[in-house]
Amino acid sequence: MQSRGVVALEEGKDPATTFKSSHARALPLRLVQFLVMFVVLGLGVSMLSMHSIRFFPVQHVAPTAPSTIRPCFEEPSSLESRIRPPSNLLHAMNDTELLWLASHASQIKEYPFKRVPKIAFMFLTKGPLPMEPLWERFLRGHEGLYSIYVHSLPSYKADFSPTSVFYRRQIPSQVAEWGEMSMCEAERRLLANALLDISNEWFILLSESCIPLYNLSIVYHYLSRSRYSFMGSFDENGPYGRGRYDGRMAPLVNLSDWRKGSQWFEIKRELAVRIVGDTTYYPKFKDFCKPACYVDEHYFQTMLSIETPHLLANRTLTYVDWSRGGAHPATFGKADITEEFFKRIGSDTCLYNNQPTSLCFLFARKFAPSALEPLLELASKVFGF
Ligand SMILES: *[C@@H]1O[C@H](CO)[C@@H](O)[C@H](O)[C@H]1NC(C)=O
Ligand SMILES: *[C@@H]1O[C@H](CO)[C@@H](O)[C@H](O)[C@H]1NC(C)=O
Ligand SMILES: *[C@@H]1O[C@H](CO)[C@@H](O)[C@H](O)[C@H]1NC(C)=O
Ligand SMILES: *[C@@H]1O[C@H](CO)[C@@H](O)[C@H](O)[C@H]1NC(C)=O
Repeated sequence: MQSRGVVALEEGKDPATTFKSSHARALPLRLVQFLVMFVVLGLGVSMLSMHSIRFFPVQHVAPTAPSTIRPCFEEPSSLESRIRPPSNLLHAMNDTELLWLASHASQIKEYPFKRVPKIAFMFLTKGPLPMEPLWERFLRGHEGLYSIYVHSLPSYKADFSPTSVFYRRQIPSQVAEWGEMSMCEAERRLLANALLDISNEWFILLSESCIPLYNLSIVYHYLSRSRYSFMGSFDENGPYGRGRYDGRMAPLVNLSDWRKGSQWFEIKRELAVRIVGDTTYYPKFKDFCKPACYVDEHYFQTMLSIETPHLLANRTLTYVDWSRGGAHPATFGKADITEEFFKRIGSDTCLYNNQPTSLCFLFARKFAPSALEPLLELASKVFGF
């Protein structure tokens, strides 16, 4: 615009002098003066307006996120503006695009900015979240230390109130079926969406029937001090363990590499990137682990045990009761919720950073909606929130 201004200035001067020297007699002097004044005035106004825009930038204010104020004229963007988490979780990327984008990780371990690591709570649900009030209480007051992602059936329309911690935390979803690869795909979709926020460091997969057993301070402390990621992973003989292995996976996965473990995991960012970026194991598990091989109990467990065994605690943080037998674990309702019940859950022993501890589970499942009321009553006394 400046070079245009210069040209205009020269053009504006030239005709005036030419008029004076050769055509002065042909044109009335007043008209010449009027033209010159007109050009000078026009230039002045345009320069003034350019000046004022520079010093009083016009701002677009997004109605939902006041932090996204940007000047009208694009300034070179800062790192901060590039790593800001997306304010809207809805996007138009398909899985191929999403996983590609989310699998990029910096090779430099030091962050060149102040980063408060967050816990990503990822809810894999069918529809409603009956335990919402309990999670609300668990999370309230800890803003900045966590983020929430919800993957529900695409047909389900969430209606959380604008004050809820779950409001607008739904990600674009697809149908996920128990024991099928679509279940692992939903988990990868949750991980990928959560990875887009650079501050997320720990990724916890939960269901609608899960509850927290301690307050967020304790959970945060436990995760941030752990050397390992919590992916249940063990080598089990018999039909439900090694029996589900298909020899066509060799030599990528041999029988001795085959692992089984709980679907419900808590992993660090590094492992989340690996899972999202995997193109090696995915086709093998998709082709050769179909029901009665339940892929969500084997894929990530086996892959990570081969690739990064030294980063795994090989146990899950989510308590479940299989003691009643059958294909599904026990569901707890109103009558089960007592202080003694939670004392029993807390009486296990396990290893934490290679030291024995009785704090083995931070979450538990499966709880029926009828358990909510007694849980809210016990929460402050038993869970500390
Ligand atoms: C996503 O879109 C890209 C580009 O159009 C396409 O190549 C890819 O196959 C799509 N992936 C899926 C899972 O639909
Ligand atoms: C499986 O066995 C083959 C042959 O012994 C070996 O080359 C391959 O590395 C093994 N796979 C893994 C994951 O250890
Ligand atoms: C978890 O199991 C792997 C073998 O699959 C082993 O290498 C690793 O040391 C185990 N982790 C811990 C904390 O014991
Ligand atoms: C969290 O729970 C622990 C143990 O119950 C308690 O000592 C601590 O004060 C609680 N922290 C908060 C912030 O409520």
